[in-house]
Parts: sequence; C-alpha cells; structure tokens
Amino acid sequence: MLKLSDPTLLKTESFINGEWRSSSQTYAVKNPANGQHLADVANHGVEEAQEAVEAGYDAYKSWKKTTAAERAAVLMKWADLMEQHREDLATIMTSEQGKPLAEARGEINYSVAFFRWFAEEARRIYGDVIPTHNPALRNLVIKQPVGVVAAITPWNFPIAMVAKKLPAALAAGCTMVWKPSEETPLSGLAFAELGVRAGLPGGAFNVINTLDAPAIGKVFTESELVRKISFTGSTPVGKLLLRQSASTVKKVSMELGGNAPFIVFDDADIDAAVSGAIASKFRNAGQTCVCANRLLVQESVYDEFSEKFSKAVAELHVGDGMAAETTVGPLINQAALDKVEVLIDDAVSHGAQVALGGNRHDLGGTFYQPTVLTEVPFEARLSREEIFGPVAPIFRFSTEEEALEQANATEYGLACYFYARDIGRIWRVSEGLEYGMVGVNTGMISTPVAPFGGIKESGLGREGSKYGLDDYLEMKFMCIGGID
Ligand code: SIN
Repeated sequence: MLKLSDPTLLKTESFINGEWRSSSQTYAVKNPANGQHLADVANHGVEEAQEAVEAGYDAYKSWKKTTAAERAAVLMKWADLMEQHREDLATIMTSEQGKPLAEARGEINYSVAFFRWFAEEARRIYGDVIPTHNPALRNLVIKQPVGVVAAITPWNFPIAMVAKKLPAALAAGCTMVWKPSEETPLSGLAFAELGVRAGLPGGAFNVINTLDAPAIGKVFTESELVRKISFTGSTPVGKLLLRQSASTVKKVSMELGGNAPFIVFDDADIDAAVSGAIASKFRNAGQTCVCANRLLVQESVYDEFSEKFSKAVAELHVGDGMAAETTVGPLINQAALDKVEVLIDDAVSHGAQVALGGNRHDLGGTFYQPTVLTEVPFEARLSREEIFGPVAPIFRFSTEEEALEQANATEYGLACYFYARDIGRIWRVSEGLEYGMVGVNTGMISTPVAPFGGIKESGLGREGSKYGLDDYLEMKFMCIGGID
C-alpha cells in the first residue's frame, strides 16, 4: 500500500535485543488524511518491556566501554542512512502522521543533524582536574554514562523526538528502551531498522510497540535497571512519570507542554512578524509544543497585523500531506479536532470574533480550516490551554508591562517569541519572559546546536547543544591519595 523504494523499511514488529519480535496481538495504524489502513503493528506488553530493559542493561555493559570514536562512527553511519532513505522515511511519516511531505523531509534533516551533532560531541566528554585542598591528595572529576535510559515520545514528530534523545544517550555510552506513540510507530521502526544497518549492537536500542502506555510507563519508571526517563509529551503525563520515578530516584528529562506567547510590539517589522507567526503557528498544523499559542499584539499595530496575518493565513493550503501544494495537513485524530472546536466555541462565547475559518474543512475527517480569531479576551481558555491545532487567537495589549504580565500568566514556560526593533526593549523583554527559549524577530528556534527545553511546568533538562550530553552523564569525583 505504501510505495517505498526500499519496502523492507516497513517494519511492524517491536525490536528487542537486536531482533524483530512479532505478536499475535496487533493494532491498526491508519492514515489520518484518508483513514486508509497502513499496517498492523505488534501490540506488546509488560513482559516484553521488561525483556527490553534487561537487553538494554546487558548491552550497556559493553557499550559503555566503547571509545567515543566507535560510538560516533555508528551515529554518523546512521545519519548517512537516514539521509539516503529520506524519501522513504518522509513517505512513511506523512502517511501515518499527516504532515506535509516537505515538513516530513525537514524532520528527517533535523533528526540527522542531531545524530551528527552528538557524534561530534561524544569526543568532548571531558572531566576536570581540581586544584587540591591537601598536598597529599589529588582531585579529579570524570563523567560516566547514566545507564539504561527509557524514552517515551509523542506522535507529532515521530522521528525527531527520539532523535533528540537517542544520539545523546548513545554518545554518552548509555543504551535505550523506547516506546514510540501508538499513532505513529512505523516511522520509528524504519528509523530503528537503519540503526541495525548502521551496526548498532543488539540491545543498545530497543523499541516496544504497545497500546498499553500506562503499563509500559510503570515498567520503565519502576525498574531498578533503568536509570533515567526521558519523556516528551503532556504535562499531566510528565507529572505522573515524575511521581512514579521517585520510587527509584531516577534522573529525568521532561519536555512537556507549552503555551507560547508571540508578541508583536509597535516598533516591530510587521511583515516579518506576519511571516514569523505563520511559520511558528502553522508548522505541523499547529501541533508542536513550541507553536505560537497566543498572539499578543500592541494596540497601535493590532489592525495592521491582524489584516496582514489573516491574508497570509488565507493562502495556506489544506490537504493530504502527500500533495505537493499542501501546507496544512489533517489533525492527528478526532479528539484533537474536538478540542479545537471546544476552544473556539469558548473563545467566541467570551466575545472573540472569527476573522477567518472557524469550521471543519470541506475535506472532512480531521481536517480543520486555518483559523484566525481577533479581539480574544484574556479570559478565554485559549489563553491558558495548549491548542495543538491550526487556530491563531489574537489578543490586544497596550503597554510592554501588560504584554509581559500576560505572556507570563501561565504555568508553562517552554518557548516564546516577540518582534521588536528597540534594543532596550529586546533586552528587557527577553530577560522578563519566564521561558526556556526566546525567539526574537524569528518564529523558528529549533536547532541541534542550541539547548531546547522549558522551565516551570514545561519541563526539566535540555536537549541538543553542548549542554545536551550532560543529561545523560553522571559526574564522579575521584579523590586520590597515596601519591608520595
Ligand atoms: C515539540 O513540539 O515538542 C518539539 C518541536 C521542535 O523540536 O521543534
């Protein structure tokens, strides 16, 4: 059904201890653009998850002893293979996730870049020599891998979300057990197959497909063999995993929900702000944790921005991600569509105006019209809740203080954006925003070279950059005596 240059990339089993494992229990993976059945995937449970953890632990004993150059070579080869098979990976991804093919290709490139980045960083896991406090002693710090890492990732970036974690873990000398989303397992399985071809030893990376996420989460968090949980997903699930991880005092990385403000000040380049807002809001049909969730626009430029922005949104093309002209695909499922409708109804009931869209798309299914809401009051649920859909609510503010106050009035603190030219304002606002990442005069901030992560209830830890490896390393202090 899926037309691939290399059909052997279409895997439907779990991957445990270097072997593909089928199951008599399966679940169907469907294309959100047309409901087409794509594959039946193995539905594994607690037993297989435990087996995968043990395999990860066994593999860790030898993987941690490899040299940085050996680990880097596998990561580089894997990156090369992803590049070589980009079209097939993108086809699988668009078919099961719905995003436009160009975005799927972009996601493969983004993932490749994380692999190459951490392959290079593997060689820079330096320690320290600390000037001694006692002439008879010497102080050293070395860094060692954390151990087996369990990763759980969502459907919005079926490969990139694990590609932000796995190469960092492997580069550090850790091994991994991964549960991909049940909505989009096929991309991750194809990605795992490329790992096999890259020469990754059996057990170093294990993939468990399941419909029983809570049970697998419990195995991961409660296992004494797993030393770290790395999760990307919602804040409520992150809190649950944190609570469960307390029983074994695991290290955790949590990349959780966001509620990104996108502020347009009166000194902004309005055309640039419109382009930045389109890129940030409508990437992946609005289904990213860093999507602009609230557009806050200063009153003197409110009408100009709203008109230009609505015009640009009207030019977006909704459709099947496989069609070349598509810029906005379907939402992932019915629940996502229902949530968008509830939030729009709530905003309208509070007095928001529908400037564009506001309805399901004629294509049916889970397609929704790109929507612009103006004069949205701050009481609307949209100002507090993650929309995860192609809906742009525009709020009005008058002063810089008010913008900052509204922008920070959320428990989330992942990404935020603002457009301004005044250098004093750029510093003041950047410092005043309570977020892990600030885009100034840009709507796109994601890159492997910079630390990605949030504060407040948006998470713990950072992915990518020179800091990203630390999340997978333990620091050990060695105090050496007996020198004389
Ligand atoms: C996310 O939506 O969680 C991540 C998006 C990105 O890496 O840019």
